[in-house]
Amino acid sequence: MIPTETQEARRQALASKRKVVLDDVAVSDVYQIGIGAFTPLTGFMSEADYKSVVDTMHLANGAIWSIPVTLPVTEDLAKEIAIGEEIALVRPDGVICAAMRVEHMYRPDLTYEAKQVYRTTEDAHPGVKRLYERGSVYLGGPVEVFEDERVDEFTDYFFTPEQTRKIFAEKGWKTIVGFQTRNPVHRAHEYIQKIALEGVDGLFLNPLVGPTKSDDVPADVRLRAYQTILKHYYPQDRTFFGVYKAAMRYAGPREAVMHALVRRNFGCTHFIVGRDHAGVGDYYGTYDAQHIFSNFDTRELGITPLFFDNAFYCKKCQGMATAKTCPHGDDDHVTLSGTKVRAMLREGIAPPPEFSRPEVVEVLMEYYTKS
Ligand code: ADX
Repeated sequence: MIPTETQEARRQALASKRKVVLDDVAVSDVYQIGIGAFTPLTGFMSEADYKSVVDTMHLANGAIWSIPVTLPVTEDLAKEIAIGEEIALVRPDGVICAAMRVEHMYRPDLTYEAKQVYRTTEDAHPGVKRLYERGSVYLGGPVEVFEDERVDEFTDYFFTPEQTRKIFAEKGWKTIVGFQTRNPVHRAHEYIQKIALEGVDGLFLNPLVGPTKSDDVPADVRLRAYQTILKHYYPQDRTFFGVYKAAMRYAGPREAVMHALVRRNFGCTHFIVGRDHAGVGDYYGTYDAQHIFSNFDTRELGITPLFFDNAFYCKKCQGMATAKTCPHGDDDHVTLSGTKVRAMLREGIAPPPEFSRPEVVEVLMEYYTKS
């Protein structure tokens, strides 16, 4: 991050530099790099790091990293930029958000990247579609980032890794479980979070509120749903809520590893990986995002993944369970897909309390019946 004292001077110096306008994914990436959420990354990837990540899920120096964090530009723009040049990275709203020294410029094999990272080359996959639509030349180099001055409904719930680490320490928490989601918190989420919380000091509920695909529940609606469920069903002194402003990649297993590394950076000691973590459609096996962790040593990862089976409400057990703990059949289990839930909400039908807390349903209904 650029220190507050030098921000004005840096802004002025950058005004005369070449401006490269970022898309919303690159904007969110640059801020994550700035605050240290993507540590050990200090900029957009060099070709060596990129290739190494795509092939081995490690940076060229051997550190674990599973998803390319790259800055794509068009061929035309790339022709104008010289290696060694300092460029100003600009948000779509015209504000300079970072400076970057262009140390690398390379042409990625996008189909290969898609296959390796997303396990599919189909552009029906939202992550792959975005990959193909972004530029075909990647710029790499270290970034220096300005503080994000934008104020919105998430501002009060935004913390840097430095801040969350301090907060956890002040609370006296030694073990903290991180939870990633791009959805409202449903009963299954709550169940696995609370099982995890039985074994650790605190829960860091850390939903992703950066760019997502258009049919996901919008982040501002989710924010209201999170506040509601936290108020009614969570122990205030054992739960901490903060937003994760990164983009969703929908890369399933590889993204689960990245999500774990990021929560390590925020100070978590444990991270929940349930069924089809960060998945979309039928691209990944139900537990692929758990199996991928067998490639890594937990000490090297720096965070312990906690795996959970598919959770549901069982009418016979009269409670939440998984196949590990419930002897009854599918007919007794209440399960609804995200798509089905959204369709119900749009039609004004409330999903049952066995699936979602009524207070959460109320928030979601208000949005879906009015929009
Ligand atoms: S995402 O970011 O991973 O795409 P999602 O809300 O679908 O968000 O899931 C959040 C976390 O809860 C993931 O670790 C996922 O595996 C887990 N999860 C979601 N639903 C269930 C369920 N019914 N049973 C067990 N784990 C679940």
